[in-house]
Amino acid sequence: MTTPPDRSLIGDVYLNAEAIAARVAELGTEIETDYRDGDLLLVSVLKGAVFFMADLARAIDLPLEMDFMAISSYQQDREDQDRRAIRFMKDLEQPLQGRDVLVVEDIVDTGLTLHYILRSLGLREPRSLEVCTLLDRPYRRITDVHVRYSGFTIPDDFFVGYGFDYRQLYRNLPYLAFLKI
Ligand code: PRP
Repeated sequence: MTTPPDRSLIGDVYLNAEAIAARVAELGTEIETDYRDGDLLLVSVLKGAVFFMADLARAIDLPLEMDFMAISSYQQDREDQDRRAIRFMKDLEQPLQGRDVLVVEDIVDTGLTLHYILRSLGLREPRSLEVCTLLDRPYRRITDVHVRYSGFTIPDDFFVGYGFDYRQLYRNLPYLAFLKI
């Protein structure tokens, strides 16, 4: 028998569901204004960002399409996070040529993942290519990536909920909480 998930690891709430919803609504309105004459395709990165993606898409009152990709990152050298290698595990299903592509991320830390994604998607000749992230830790950036829409700048802590996991658990919490570990 497996050990049941330990709920004692869930710490104080950092952002409750109402605060998240309010900010997502603001981002949706902003994007709606900017893409009113566009051909919007939201592209999300599995798995963490799907919760934000689903809420953000419903906050944008425009015709839009959604697509998903999965990437895997692994440390070539565990001592050196900067040397992470990233590769596609699941590619997008549609061509990007001429589309207004908005990459929807749950968090940008070092920016390495996003840098790889943007470089790869940029080669497919979208009309525009921008980024919307729910959470941002700009002070952890080690590569230069432009984030057009950012929900919250957060402290250097571990979080769970609203897509964020600890060992694949707690993504389904409707709020963002500190991880007690
Ligand atoms: C997270 C997040 C970003 C990446 C950001 O993914 O979704 O893709 O890390 O980190 P970086 O800016 O330092 O590259 P994670 O690997 O935790 O996968 P998950 O979404 O499946 O939880």
